[in-house]
Amino acid sequence: KIRHIAARRIWDSRGRPTVEVEVTNEDGTVGLGIAPAGASMGTREAVELRDGGPRFGGRDVLQAVAGIDREIAPALQGHDVTDQAGIDALLVALDGTPTRSRLGGNALVATSLAVLQAAAAHARMPLWRHLAQGRAVRLPLPQIQIFGGGAHAGRRVDIQDFMIIATGATSFAQALEMTAEVYRAAGELMAARGALAGVADEGGWWPDFARNEDALDMLVAAIEKAGYVPGEDVSIALDVAASEFGKNGRYRLALDNRELDSDALCERLVGWVENYPIVSIEDPLGEDDEAGLIAFTRAVGHRVQVVGDDYLVTNGGRIRMAAARGACNCALIKPNQAGTVTETRAALEAAQALGYATIVSARSGETEDVTIVHLATGWNAGQLKVGSFARSERMAKWNEGLRIEGRADAPGAFAGRAALAGARP
Ligand code: PGA
Ligand code: ZN
Repeated sequence: KIRHIAARRIWDSRGRPTVEVEVTNEDGTVGLGIAPAGASMGTREAVELRDGGPRFGGRDVLQAVAGIDREIAPALQGHDVTDQAGIDALLVALDGTPTRSRLGGNALVATSLAVLQAAAAHARMPLWRHLAQGRAVRLPLPQIQIFGGGAHAGRRVDIQDFMIIATGATSFAQALEMTAEVYRAAGELMAARGALAGVADEGGWWPDFARNEDALDMLVAAIEKAGYVPGEDVSIALDVAASEFGKNGRYRLALDNRELDSDALCERLVGWVENYPIVSIEDPLGEDDEAGLIAFTRAVGHRVQVVGDDYLVTNGGRIRMAAARGACNCALIKPNQAGTVTETRAALEAAQALGYATIVSARSGETEDVTIVHLATGWNAGQLKVGSFARSERMAKWNEGLRIEGRADAPGAFAGRAALAGARP
């Protein structure tokens, strides 16, 4: 039973305020939950409560913290922490808005995650094992950013994430070793061109390219320089985040300095799939361009993973609708898009039931919190995306995966490339 709930404002990886919640059980065990924050957000996501005004660029969260103290804490006191579904339903009812705008999606997700952690602490189990409940689960296949772009790097390149997937790795630890070599090789190649300019929001090298294709060429060169065969040992994954540069089927590519319609962007991306060792593409077209997403999935969904992020927003109903229409074959799963753990899990289970692949994902604004690594493992999501291979808010998560894999009671195996949807034969 919950004895006490404390909320406070802490700071995220961009130096912005965020919400932390601490749930203390009657037996003295504690669960901590922290809200992450996106920069390229889908319009249908749960809404964050931010104070506005001059302080911290309007991003303070003192109202969200006050709402937890005033309304959420008294309502949850005495509740059984193992009743996640009941507590989440109560949070949603307390908020009372469809978008979670009154108490704030940030207040809700931090509270919901803290309750989940408190339940695992009460059971004296690592969270992944508490979630697996005796089922056989696998360590997730990581998707790791090498170059950061889009809204995370001053829109220096149009594409948001140039990532790699260690498709030849047979363990989580080996996937990280291969990533470390490619990340280092990419940095050396950038330095050799005189193009090294620090890192973007998620720790990927700051992009300095004249064309989007130059980043793809550089990524292939980095994979080779690291001693790997592109497309076999190490493959490419992209998050186009097309909603950031396109509305109503019109896409404005800054690097090309021209506008593409939906068909032309689709054709461009299909060309990339044909010419580069790409195994996964996220948000290839805008969240409002469902016809484009269906056309793209029809064109390449049998051989690459087509991931819905802004379009699906971790919503079970939207995932079912997308599957019925043939858009995407993989769902990105972000707890703060949904608002609560129960809704996040429902979205993931809806996707799995429909044969979609799933990727549990961090946000561009993160903290030292490693809960999502446990969600990806314990829910057997198959894949995990937490940004690049630098900066401790990212490395904390990769390192937590190593701790889980290294334990004596570790999950049986590594998901590996079989976790990818539409994987090339
Ligand atoms: P965000 O980026 O957290 O800024 O939304 C991550 C993503 O688009 O996957
Ligand atoms: Zn995305």
